[in-house]
Amino acid sequence: MTTQTIKTTPFSDQKPGTSGLRKRVTVYQQPNYVENYIQAIFDSLEGFAGQTLVIGGDGRFYNDVAIQKAIRIAAANGFGKVLVGQGGILSTPAASHVIRHYKAFGGLVLSASHNPGGPEGDFGIKYNIGNGGPAPEKITDAVYARTKIIDSFKTLDTADIDLNAIGTQQVGDMVVEVIDPVKDYAALMQTLFDFDAIRALFAGGFRMTFDAMAAVTGPYANAILEDMLGAPKGTVVNGTPSPTFDNGHPDPNLVYCKDMHDLLMTPDGPDFGAASDGDGDRNLIIGKNRFVTPSDSLALLAANAHLAPGYKDGIAGIARSMPTSAAADRVAEKLGIEMHETPTGWKFFGNLLDAGRVTICGEESAGTGSNHVREKDGLWAVLLWLNILAVRKHGVDEIVREHWRTYGRNYYTRHDYEEVDSAIANQLMDDLRGKLASLPGQTLGDDMQVAYADDFTYHDPVDGSTSAKQGVRIGFVDGSRIVLRLSGTGTVGATLRVYLERYEASDGRHDLDTQVALEPLIAIAEQLAGIKSRTGRTEPSVIT
Ligand code: G1P
Ligand code: ZN
Repeated sequence: MTTQTIKTTPFSDQKPGTSGLRKRVTVYQQPNYVENYIQAIFDSLEGFAGQTLVIGGDGRFYNDVAIQKAIRIAAANGFGKVLVGQGGILSTPAASHVIRHYKAFGGLVLSASHNPGGPEGDFGIKYNIGNGGPAPEKITDAVYARTKIIDSFKTLDTADIDLNAIGTQQVGDMVVEVIDPVKDYAALMQTLFDFDAIRALFAGGFRMTFDAMAAVTGPYANAILEDMLGAPKGTVVNGTPSPTFDNGHPDPNLVYCKDMHDLLMTPDGPDFGAASDGDGDRNLIIGKNRFVTPSDSLALLAANAHLAPGYKDGIAGIARSMPTSAAADRVAEKLGIEMHETPTGWKFFGNLLDAGRVTICGEESAGTGSNHVREKDGLWAVLLWLNILAVRKHGVDEIVREHWRTYGRNYYTRHDYEEVDSAIANQLMDDLRGKLASLPGQTLGDDMQVAYADDFTYHDPVDGSTSAKQGVRIGFVDGSRIVLRLSGTGTVGATLRVYLERYEASDGRHDLDTQVALEPLIAIAEQLAGIKSRTGRTEPSVIT
């Protein structure tokens, strides 16, 4: 079979964001758009001849089309083998595991995560390296540079492969193996958690609801929660992946999982509610009468991880993204282990995990994970929670309150302003940066004294690289913080994220409403950035 070299012209908008290249499906459907990007990725890599590439996605609209293209381009570029999930399905954490488990060269993860899908929705392609994690900036920068000058791509003129047939097929000189997307991942979970204890929990009448949001975690949750752990049938809802996510928005937050939240707040509701996003890497945790913020969940999981077999010897360290609350820092301090603050995006955890300096990582955006893979992992977080509940034999609310009594409570919220005009959002950030130098020492609001104000720069302690302009931080003397940054995953206009945090000590007041507790900081953020007057918005689009 002869390789075809097809002439092409560059697209100017193929700059990877926080997590790969996310665009409207209609953008991806332009002739050669997928081809250019995948060829640019391969052009930025070295030494993959004859090696294995993993391909999988969250089942969203256009997945199947893009996978067939990717397979042909991989074959034409000299990969020896492609491992692809049946039906094109692999959750993002499962893809990470498959890359590691089979010692693949890397992988293509086809997803736009929690963004809506369907013909009018979003699509995305992300490249992961051999450690199973998102490519570091060195590679994503090279890919972007390549997309700007690419003039041809390589492909083969072959029929589509049958994505549903488990087993091997041939594409040119390359082998394509269609694998069960769940099996290897489920086996990994069994090595980490006490399945017997969790099975006993369910057998004892513990009731749970898991919302797969018509996205990728359906098959995983059905197999693990219902089949292996004996949760009653019906525990998993919306468990069949749909290309449009049943026209929903697969983001497991209190806006899109409001019904589940409300159910958990009723006396007859289940004991535990959880959800995961489009590609299975995010998690939402709600106990009876208690929503657990992702920042608190990170701290709690780190403090209790030793109760699960996979972490019984303790954890080496914790890392959190900069905007994530400092709740986990207090756990690290007590455990006497390393704590790292990194820029937003899972790719920044990879080096720390590879170097064995941290075991558990998390982001305020509902992402938690550990060194078992190099992505955040929604079901992992759910299973660790179940393991902890099974061992401690207390409810979620009790465990959360006890945590606050020990460590204090970090009140935390994030206000998002979506689809803001990009020029306005950039100007807002620029003006704010201009004010930073004069802020330290000033008193804002009634009595909030600024301790520091900067634009976060990260120095990676493992490879020495530096990442600047990662978000504006305004820290106060009492430990409170305001952080503002622009999203790197939005596909239309700009999304302004405002993160607010206030610490209440272990003997302090832990029962305030979060928005009320943070009211003074919300007002200061408005005063400094002029969000309402500049954007014309009277309130955030999403509050988490
Ligand atoms: C968002 C989250 C970030 C997460 C990323 C990918 O990025 O804030 O924590 O890693 O999605 O799931 P952002 O849109 O803020 O750049
Ligand atoms: Zn995701």
